[in-house]
Amino acid sequence: MVSFTLLLTALTATVTQVAASPLELLKRGIQPGQGTHDGFFYSFWKDNPGTVDFNPGPRGSYRVSWYNVNNWVGGKGWNPGPPRKVAYNGTWNNYNVNSYLALYGWTTNPLVEYYIVEAYGTYNPSTGASRLGTIEDDGGVYDIYRTRRINQPSIVGTATFDQYWSVRRTKRVGGTIDTGKHFDEWRRQGNLQLGQWNYMIMATEGYQSSGSAEIEVWEVR
Ligand SMILES: *[C@@H]1O[C@H](CO)[C@@H](O)[C@H](O)[C@H]1NC(C)=O
Repeated sequence: MVSFTLLLTALTATVTQVAASPLELLKRGIQPGQGTHDGFFYSFWKDNPGTVDFNPGPRGSYRVSWYNVNNWVGGKGWNPGPPRKVAYNGTWNNYNVNSYLALYGWTTNPLVEYYIVEAYGTYNPSTGASRLGTIEDDGGVYDIYRTRRINQPSIVGTATFDQYWSVRRTKRVGGTIDTGKHFDEWRRQGNLQLGQWNYMIMATEGYQSSGSAEIEVWEVR
């Protein structure tokens, strides 16, 4: 039990380092960037040092390049973000640096930060975590994980909350994501409960890296 706790603590610390939430960045004194652009919600943060050129484009698209950042994350989507089938396409070619391409969001009551990871670079966010199950979606297999953050900043201030993860075994850039399927299977296989829908974006994240991406997200009806 002790070793499990230590492992979990180490794991959470590792994941935390890479997957800093937007609100955590805000807490560190970063100017928030959130709003509506051409009918889509967008959210964008960075800390220092480094530069990020984040350009919301038509509909659910954005183009971004970042240079020598410590950490940035952003994208476009919806707020609130109830279960949706979404599609996305674009260019994300950051396999050799520390970056994620993920459907990303939050719920409250319970407070949860979630990621459906489509592609990642040099750091696999599930490193060391125990797999809780698997999900098949759009021809690919995702592994389910949960990590816990203790007394960390969040969209409702400093709190203890879980992060839920689906990580696609075969990385890709483009396809559909049935978010409701992930949410249902998280609950069914991992007893991972979600709460009230906060925002949901197709996010790019960079950690101690330089890179670029051009992504468009939309809803599939
Ligand atoms: C996504 O695909 C559409 C249709 O082919 C295209 O018009 C659009 O430019 C693509 N978006 C990106 C970001 O590549």
